Amino acid sequence: MNNMVQRERGKVAIITGGAGGLGLSIAERLSRNGVRVAVWDIDAQRAEAAARTLPDARSYAVDVTDAAAVEQATAQVVSDFGRLDILVTSAGHNGPNVPIADYPLDGWRKTIALNLDAVFFCCRAATREMLKTSKGRIVNMSSIAGKEGNPNLGAYSAAKAGVIGLTKSLGKELALTDIRVNCVTPAAIDTDILKQLSPEFLNYVKSKIPMGRLGRAEEIADLVAWLASEECSFTTGAVFDISGGRATY
Ligand SMILES: NC(=O)c1ccc[n+]([C@@H]2O[C@H](COP(=O)([O-])OP(=O)(O)OC[C@H]3O[C@@H](n4cnc5c(N)ncnc54)[C@H](O)[C@@H]3O)[C@@H](O)[C@H]2O)c1
Repeated sequence: MNNMVQRERGKVAIITGGAGGLGLSIAERLSRNGVRVAVWDIDAQRAEAAARTLPDARSYAVDVTDAAAVEQATAQVVSDFGRLDILVTSAGHNGPNVPIADYPLDGWRKTIALNLDAVFFCCRAATREMLKTSKGRIVNMSSIAGKEGNPNLGAYSAAKAGVIGLTKSLGKELALTDIRVNCVTPAAIDTDILKQLSPEFLNYVKSKIPMGRLGRAEEIADLVAWLASEECSFTTGAVFDISGGRATY
C-alpha cells in the first residue's frame, strides 16, 4: 500500500453532484484511496446507484441550492460516518446557452443559485465542521468559463468566476489551520453536462482546446484526489488549470 493510500484510508468525503460524470469519477478515485464517500445528488436514484458501486459509501438526496438541506445533510453525514474530512463541490449545470440580450431572469437566478450560492452553502457547512479539528480539504469545481468568460454562457461564467473568488477568500481565511481550499477550472470534459450545449457551441469550445480533444473525467479525478489529500499541504486559495492547454494563465 503506498503512503498516500495509507494516509487517506478511512477519511470521509462529501461529493456534491456525486452521481454525475465528474462527481462519480471523483468518488471512484477517492474510494480507491480508501476514502468513504457520501454521494450527494438531487437525483436520489442515481445517487443510490452510484453509492452501491463504491465500498463504504452512502447516498443522500440533497438539493444543494437549499441552505437548510445542506446543513441538515452535513450533520447527517457526520452522524453516519463520525467525521468529515473532505468536501468536493461538483453539482452544477450550464444554464441557458443564449446571449445576454436574450437571457431570461429566471435562468440567471437558477444558474447562480446552483453554481455559486450552493457552493457557499456547502463550504460554510463543511467549514464549520472542519474547524472543530482544524483539518480538512475543500475542492470546488469552477470552470475555464470562470477565468475566460464563455460567450452565450453569461450566468455560468459569472458563477464560476464567483467560485474562484470564494475559494481564494476562504483559502486565505483558513490558512493558519490545516484546512486547504482550492478549485479546479476544467475546459470541456466528456460528461452529460455537454448535452446541455448546442452542437455549434460544443464545436466552439472544442476548437479552443490546443490538445484537440475533450478532457476525460478520470483526468479531473486524479487532480482532485491530490487536492483532497494531505499531500496538498502548502497550497490553498489556488486555481488549478486542467484545460488541454486552453488556459493562458
Ligand atoms: N463537464 C465539463 O465539461 C465541465 C467543465 C468545467 C466545469 N465543469 C463543472 O463540473 C461540475 C460537474 O459537472 P459534470 O460534467 O459532472 O456534470 P453532470 O451534469 O454530469 O453532473 C452534475 C450532477 O449535479 C447534480 N445536480 C444538479 N442539480 C443539483 C442540485 N440542485 N443539488 C444536488 N445535485 C445537483 C446532477 O443530478 C448531476 O448528477 C459542474 O459544476 C460543472 O459546471 C464541468
